[in-house]
Amino acid sequence: MTTLNFPRDFIWGTATSSFQIEGATDVDGRGPSIWDTFCATPGKISDGSDGTVVCDHYHRYKEDVAIMASLGLDAYRFSIAWPRVQPKGFGEWNEAGFKFYENLITELEAKGIKPHVTLYHWDLPQALQDRGGWANRETVKLFAEYAAEVGRRFGHRVASIATHNEPWCTAYLGNHLGRFAPGFKDVALANQVSHHLLLSHGEAIKALRALNIPAQLGIVLNQSDADPATDSAADKRQAQLEYENFTGWFMDPIFKGHYPPLALEVYGDAAPKVQEGDFETIGQKIDFLGVNYYFRAWCSTDTPKIPEPCELGRTDMGWEIYPKGLTDLLLRLKREYADLPPILITENGMANPDTIKDGAVNDPQRIDFLQRHLGALKDAMDAGVDIRGYFEWSLLDNFEWDSGLSKRFGIVHVDYQTQKRTLKDSAHWYREFISQQKKG
Ligand code: NOJ
Repeated sequence: MTTLNFPRDFIWGTATSSFQIEGATDVDGRGPSIWDTFCATPGKISDGSDGTVVCDHYHRYKEDVAIMASLGLDAYRFSIAWPRVQPKGFGEWNEAGFKFYENLITELEAKGIKPHVTLYHWDLPQALQDRGGWANRETVKLFAEYAAEVGRRFGHRVASIATHNEPWCTAYLGNHLGRFAPGFKDVALANQVSHHLLLSHGEAIKALRALNIPAQLGIVLNQSDADPATDSAADKRQAQLEYENFTGWFMDPIFKGHYPPLALEVYGDAAPKVQEGDFETIGQKIDFLGVNYYFRAWCSTDTPKIPEPCELGRTDMGWEIYPKGLTDLLLRLKREYADLPPILITENGMANPDTIKDGAVNDPQRIDFLQRHLGALKDAMDAGVDIRGYFEWSLLDNFEWDSGLSKRFGIVHVDYQTQKRTLKDSAHWYREFISQQKKG
């Protein structure tokens, strides 16, 4: 067992999202989302799977909360499916949808697990996409109304509310690279979408703040530091550009009041159209920053985007395992942004080709991954970065977007035929790790 010592009040959790685990997509009045549409489009999901059943968490949430309790978790991060609580994204609220989340929160409370809510983890109501989705500035207002409704109902019972999860993915995987819903390939569109996502974040924070609720308010961003592959000026510029396109593109507007200059210059005419007052809205004070970390960016003008070989290998996604990148990233955030709020690591974990043998799942790779990343996290804390919690991604194997069910991120194995949950070795390790931390 590791010798790492985190503060006693450090928050230990796991994370999931609605579309990736719930299933029950046409139950109790839920409206269709852009991911239902995308999954139904041939060729979009590598194994042809979809979100209709997945982990059937909608019906099995009590069992899943019991698993969390058995692991000794302090906290659980989940998202609310907008089309479940407001089927069209405008107009009527769906009480049956709200009831599901209320029941989930009640179950978590009963087990002493603090709920951390994300409002948008990519399942936009299809009816809003039919009106232009995030490319339509009108969606900003509707999102703020949805945020306020959730805040009114649950803001006294949840520890935190994050507006968006990884808006970079929504904007660029969804609208520039076409890999995610809604599947467009247009960089100017993606830039405008990213601007509206940021704006909707600011408007939602304003609306939630006005409610005077105890929940901490923030946003969850996927981030990485960017290393140049060589010392050449070209590679260094590439690394700066990569940082600005990915991490800086969302951090700078929120904390500096403008888009990062090099990225903006390179986008040229494709840059987002910004109206007066937008940056003031975007820059609302937040109580926490959620950081999702999976890999670093390794940047070169003429070699592949990943070092060969990777010293610690790659995950089943092909992503480089690079724990030091987490320390580097957190130190860079502290350097670059004067008003950085406390940080929660809202996601970190790996996909591994796990199988069940004799009723157990042996995943030493994931244990090693977690141990190393927690070490890297602790290094950043020791260097003065204010980090309050860690949410492992993910509690359960689940629907990994365009990879469908083919990639397993869970510390709990899910048999999609029988819905049987089996704790992997990493889950036993995490339970033991958390319990050691509580003892101090
Ligand atoms: C980040 C996303 O928030 C989550 O939905 C996804 O499953 C993980 N990354 C792994 O790719």
